[in-house]
Amino acid sequence: MSAAEISREEILRQHEIALSLRASVAGAKAMVRTFGCQQNEADGERIAGELTDCGYLLTDDITQADVVILNTCAVREHAENRVLGIIGSMKKEKEKRPGMKIGMSGCMAQEPHRQEQLKKNYPFVDFLFGTDQVHRIPEIMRDVLGKRGQRQYISELPHAEFGVITEETPVARTSSYRALVSVMYGCNNFCSYCIVPYVRGHERSRRPENVLDEVRELADAGYRDIMLLGQNVNSYRGETGENGNVIKTFPELLSECASLDGDFVLRFMTSHPKDASDDLIRVMASHPKIEDRFHLPFQSGSNRILKEMRRRYTRESYLEKAEKIKSYLPGAALTSDVIIGFPTETEKDFLDTVDLVESVRFDMLYMFLYSPRRGTDAEKMDGRVPHDEQVRRFEYLSGIQNRIAEEKNKAMVGRTVRVLSDGADDKGVCTGRTTQNKIITLDKNIPAGTFCTSVVTDAGQYTLTGRVEENTWTNH
Ligand code: SAH
Ligand code: SF4
Ligand code: F3S
Repeated sequence: MSAAEISREEILRQHEIALSLRASVAGAKAMVRTFGCQQNEADGERIAGELTDCGYLLTDDITQADVVILNTCAVREHAENRVLGIIGSMKKEKEKRPGMKIGMSGCMAQEPHRQEQLKKNYPFVDFLFGTDQVHRIPEIMRDVLGKRGQRQYISELPHAEFGVITEETPVARTSSYRALVSVMYGCNNFCSYCIVPYVRGHERSRRPENVLDEVRELADAGYRDIMLLGQNVNSYRGETGENGNVIKTFPELLSECASLDGDFVLRFMTSHPKDASDDLIRVMASHPKIEDRFHLPFQSGSNRILKEMRRRYTRESYLEKAEKIKSYLPGAALTSDVIIGFPTETEKDFLDTVDLVESVRFDMLYMFLYSPRRGTDAEKMDGRVPHDEQVRRFEYLSGIQNRIAEEKNKAMVGRTVRVLSDGADDKGVCTGRTTQNKIITLDKNIPAGTFCTSVVTDAGQYTLTGRVEENTWTNH
């Protein structure tokens, strides 16, 4: 057992507490609202699973909820302000129903200054728990239900020790056909702008057999889209063998997951360019179940800024990697993240970013304005780029990226693609995702969670339009 792994005894002890709460909880309702990335979504499903184990019924309706947990994200200021606004508005809801309990979890809850702020300015919030406390929810709920006053559950270990691995805890999955599977947690990279290592702790990997068991169970249960998650999946090092002395790498794990029986698309996030290896690209090329998409955040096209960001690759090595991906995976979509207006970013640095975007031609680019995060190294840097200038650069790059995305999507017209349907919305419009993870609007209502084959008939900046081929959908 890895040092970070919570013991089976402790997991069972928590479950016993959950059982002991059921009589008093008796059908009360709980709502979990998650912000941020897929990792946090996965945690949100585990929080909901724990609450279900305690006897709660899940709801999306805040006016019905006896317990509300806001599972927060701290990656940019905007994300945090949204949550603070929602918490503020919940004060009224709580005045109407004083018995209601409000909790905060996730990455914001792990920040010391937010813990202080909650104590001082938001006393009506009943509890807060850190990212390594999810498995303790039964115990936390027992405490919170029995007592008044705000309670905070945080472990304050140093980075090298902070963070846990938990196996076999309850999960309430939101979808019956798309599933998230964390394979590792935390991050050791400390990119200078990023809060994630501080709030998610050190890198730690689940045992490969546990990941494989979970993926196998999901595939057997009819899941069609299975996503392996890690902040930095290429750092996966899963201990296995009798004494945990054999190490599995991410390409090995991915290959084994992709070899399991069942009809599903296997996806993964996120790769770091410094260690997205040739092995990984080869595994992707050789397994039909792995999605036709590579998400590889580049963050900046300027070598000087990349150095300040502590990314540990250069624009040249990134371009080389992108070329390699294109040659091994000719049909694959390439997607990325970029930060605009990092401290000291000059017009020339920005134009290097524009140039990289023009030469790689991403199918999709997630663009973010740099947001200072308390406690990170970049926060202490001089040379902040004024907000107006950040916005100008953002809009300029958006214009270029939108044109490229549209051209790339238009080039798909006439091609046949495999689509996993998400079903029809209220207006009867049916959409799905191609194996490149592009959104496609279908001309037939294919049941959600069903694969079909479609010919792309039209394309815009963000979506494709497709004609479903007759007799190509089955529900297995
Ligand atoms: N672990 C992943 C994702 C991290 S967070 C990775 O390394 O790629 C997702 C994205 O948010 C990052 O890729 C980055 O583009 C953006 N981001 C992180 N911190 C930010 C900050 N302080 N300001 C603006 N964008 C940020
Ligand atoms: Fe943040 Fe960098 Fe780690 Fe990604 S690799 S989570 S950007 S520190
Ligand atoms: Fe946000 Fe935490 Fe994810 S900061 S992006 S929810 S790891």
